[in-house]
Amino acid sequence: MTEPLDSPLAGKHIVLGVTGSIAAYKSADLVRRLRDAGAELRVVMTKSACEFITPLTLQTLSGHPVAIDLLDADQESAMGHITLARWADWILVAPASADVIARLAQGRTDDLLSALCLASESPLALAPAMNNKMWSNPATQDNLTVLRSRGVQIIGPASGDQACGEQGEGRLVEPLNIVVAMERYVVPKRLLGKKVLITAGPTYEAIDPVRFIGNRSSGKMGFAIAQAAVEAGAEVTLIAGPVHLTTPTGVKRVDVETAQAMFEQVSSAVAESDIFISCAAVADYRPCQTETKKIKKIANSELELKLEPTIDIVAAVAKQQLKPFIVGFAAETQDVTEYAQEKLQRKNLDMIAANQVGNGLGFAVDTNTLSVFWHNGSQELPIAVKTQLARDLMMLIIEQYNAKNSIKTA
Ligand code: C5P
Repeated sequence: MTEPLDSPLAGKHIVLGVTGSIAAYKSADLVRRLRDAGAELRVVMTKSACEFITPLTLQTLSGHPVAIDLLDADQESAMGHITLARWADWILVAPASADVIARLAQGRTDDLLSALCLASESPLALAPAMNNKMWSNPATQDNLTVLRSRGVQIIGPASGDQACGEQGEGRLVEPLNIVVAMERYVVPKRLLGKKVLITAGPTYEAIDPVRFIGNRSSGKMGFAIAQAAVEAGAEVTLIAGPVHLTTPTGVKRVDVETAQAMFEQVSSAVAESDIFISCAAVADYRPCQTETKKIKKIANSELELKLEPTIDIVAAVAKQQLKPFIVGFAAETQDVTEYAQEKLQRKNLDMIAANQVGNGLGFAVDTNTLSVFWHNGSQELPIAVKTQLARDLMMLIIEQYNAKNSIKTA
């Protein structure tokens, strides 16, 4: 479940349009989830939506009367379509039937929802839901092309079993994922046109074909940062060590295993990057040699492993002449501030984000805190889920990146 303070939708005014599709029953869940995310909601239903789900259900869940009729004097005097059109920060139509998509493409005003969309300057998002043949019909696809060209965001649809018994594209995207898409749309695009390179997760350094030296990094923080950077409009490349995480939508992901492979991928992408965020827990040492066969146990005998240092990727990038804005991480079990500030200087970084790890803190958990340092300032980011912490960190990165570039160009 999304926590209220965790979402960029908190406090946003959203008009949710519900149209006549069997998926309309899912809008009850969507209303709950949008409210959990802290959004202010007003629901508008088409007449045919009322055949699938009652206005009372959505009224009860949204906490406000549902608007249906364009020509209802009572409703118009309460919050008429022009007032609603001005009130909305966003209009989301979910489910959006083939019919409403056609009406919006034509700019019709024959019911409250389409009149509202035409009267509003607010951005519009549609989550289509319909039979797969209706979806793939050129008429629908042409309408969508028109809507997209006007800046309308289209969420989905998903594929799978359909209520009509067929299989294919046309299912409503699950409400949770509609909320995620909306969260992405509402974040200001302060990194538009910028390229961000991020490393995440652990590295594995092979001892033999079955064993390796690794660490407890889950990659969650780096993936959350990648998501926050995409939300801010950046083009993001994420170089990930071995992790079990879903790639955030819109992120270009490159999987690697070793520190050396991570270094090579970073080297080939860094020249065109504006910001490099080195979040990976890169192994500091690797076996001097990797055995080609599994090492056999010899009873009662010690085994010595000889290790050599790996390349320090972030320090190597920071030594380059033409380099991006560089953000490092410092995961420490003690003396976090001292170690972090020392690393900021020694590795010649622009910024460092430090956190305490071990004893259930930091790695492999969903929440975290960060102390962030740069050359003439610092800020504590209080405990939050990593998705939110990543957004807070991204705000600081953007501020300091802009500050550095305005000095350069002054
Ligand atoms: O020195 P330490 O490993 O604590 O530094 C952490 C920072 O350095 C992180 O940003 C990490 O991603 C980066 N690092 C690296 N290559 C290494 C070791 C650490 O880029 N071999």
